[in-house]
Amino acid sequence: MIRSVSRLVDPHGRTVRYLRLSVTDRCNLRCLYCAHALGMTFIPHENILSYEEMLQLVAAAVDLGIDKVRLTGGEPFARKGFSGFLERLRAAHPELDLRITTNATLLTPHLQLLRDIGVNALNISFDTFRQETFRQITGSSLYHEAEKGLQAALASGIRVKINAVALKGVNDGELPAFLELLSLHPVDVRFIEYMPLGGRGRWTEGNFWSAPRVLEAVGRLARLTPVPAGQDGHGGPARLYEVEGAQGRFGVITPLSNHFCGSCNRLRVTSDGRLRTCLFSDVEYPFRDMLRDPAQGIVAVSGLITSALADKPLGYKLLQNRREQSAVIARGMSSIGG
Ligand code: 5AD
Repeated sequence: MIRSVSRLVDPHGRTVRYLRLSVTDRCNLRCLYCAHALGMTFIPHENILSYEEMLQLVAAAVDLGIDKVRLTGGEPFARKGFSGFLERLRAAHPELDLRITTNATLLTPHLQLLRDIGVNALNISFDTFRQETFRQITGSSLYHEAEKGLQAALASGIRVKINAVALKGVNDGELPAFLELLSLHPVDVRFIEYMPLGGRGRWTEGNFWSAPRVLEAVGRLARLTPVPAGQDGHGGPARLYEVEGAQGRFGVITPLSNHFCGSCNRLRVTSDGRLRTCLFSDVEYPFRDMLRDPAQGIVAVSGLITSALADKPLGYKLLQNRREQSAVIARGMSSIGG
């Protein structure tokens, strides 16, 4: 693929090529680490970008130099018409690196289509192999649906990465099960440090399981060899390790001690049409009304994207400034897009 020159270069010299687009804030799970668990209200439908508007937005973003789009939620497959949207998106952008983040509970019937249109990778949020623990984390009895979706995805030939939130006292006994999975499949399993998002939620010192401790525990079970930075495919935030004798890799994502701001290449768009240039900054650039105003439209939105980029922060500085605050950001992942 010939990469077009991106017009999205920020003052820190970072070239932005990656857009994470939340297609809905709704979800069929209520994970304890997510604001939904606290009884959040959903955004009214008319305030959510229509698929038509999302197609316009992606076209403008691609024009500016974006070449990778992740569709997130909420749970993307919980929004009606999502698979039809995917087909149209792929038809409009055959070259786009197109990825989806999902909890897998609704995934199985869509896998054939995802393979047909060439979805480049699936990130599956999967924290536990135990039905009871699943219920404890997600408030839901959909464990078997999630597990079936995960297995079907692994069998589909589509590249799969697993995200598990590291929760002390909850899923800290399950490393052997995750290691078994990556011994059988070429799948990356990444444990994510639990972040106090969305008004703190249920975050406590007691359930925070740090990445160094996770790695120590994995190290007692398997021999790990670090994958040199830059060789993990796309310079993402995960620190990855080869696992001796396994097909897949193990990784950790350490948002609270994140050292990856310097190479951050992403923008986020919430389902109600707000641009965010940094996960850790609550500054948002609402563009939905602009897009809906015939006098402004997508041209104005493109201008907004370019000018917002001038203020894309180095997030770790924001985190340092917020040490004393209980939550690092006001919204939860479900409304920002994980
Ligand atoms: N801390 C860490 N990870 C989180 N996710 C959602 N909320 C949190 C949180 N508070 C992760 C989920 C999901 C991804 C999109 O974001 O694991 O896989």
